[in-house]
Amino acid sequence: MKLLSSSALLWSPVVANNRMNRKRQASGINSYEKELHLKPENWLNGRLQQHGQATWLDLCCGEGNALLQYAREAAVNHQQENIRLKGIDLVDQFQLIPPDIHCLQFETRSLDNWTSDEQYDLVTCVHGLHYVGDKLHVLAAILKAIKSDGIFLANLDLKSIRIADDPQHQYLKKVFAGHNISYDGRRRIIRCEGPRDVSFEVKYQGADDQAGPNYTGQEAVDAYYVLSR
Ligand SMILES: C[S@@+](CC[C@H](N)C(=O)[O-])C[C@H]1O[C@@H](n2cnc3c(N)ncnc32)[C@H](O)[C@@H]1O
Repeated sequence: MKLLSSSALLWSPVVANNRMNRKRQASGINSYEKELHLKPENWLNGRLQQHGQATWLDLCCGEGNALLQYAREAAVNHQQENIRLKGIDLVDQFQLIPPDIHCLQFETRSLDNWTSDEQYDLVTCVHGLHYVGDKLHVLAAILKAIKSDGIFLANLDLKSIRIADDPQHQYLKKVFAGHNISYDGRRRIIRCEGPRDVSFEVKYQGADDQAGPNYTGQEAVDAYYVLSR
């Protein structure tokens, strides 16, 4: 099997795929609420009430509709000064930010080698990790970007993380348990409250963009590792 480097993966038709759903809203029918079983607005409004401010980082944000939905609500409620919303995606297919919205920023870039200077109340990655190469490197960076009483939620298919000689994902399960990171194997959702400094003791080998459809029915990317302990 020919494994792709992170830079080669960005040109893969599986990653640069126009058929993927980039349109989810924060809540409603096609939404983060449905995917993550948490209504972003409720979480962020709770932070606003408690701390007077709220921040949300949405990784692999697609068109950015989820952030925009909350930004519009903030504008109506005159709360924009207390809110900061950021979306990152490899592909520049973001919705236009209306002139009256100034609490939202989009950034076009890959998550490869991304790190965050800031921590956020809410960090989400909805059906984005399926297309990332070195998922564990990105995951370690994400886990640092959570505020002390913030939360991170993402769709994650453990089957797409192939660690040599560990088909049952014992290593990852142990690391997650050791850092109090919860993983719901039925819903395939990773959840973490508060930041974590996790160093995965693995060596990344490359990505397979020919892995075929994952549990979503869409073609996805598997990441290959060997343990380096
Ligand atoms: C299935 S879409 C989900 C978009 C959005 N979260 C939603 O639910 O509407 C996956 C997104 O991940 C983005 N993506 C894939 N690989 C990426 C990478 N390495 N870095 C940043 N974004 C990436 C794609 O461009 C795409 O917009």
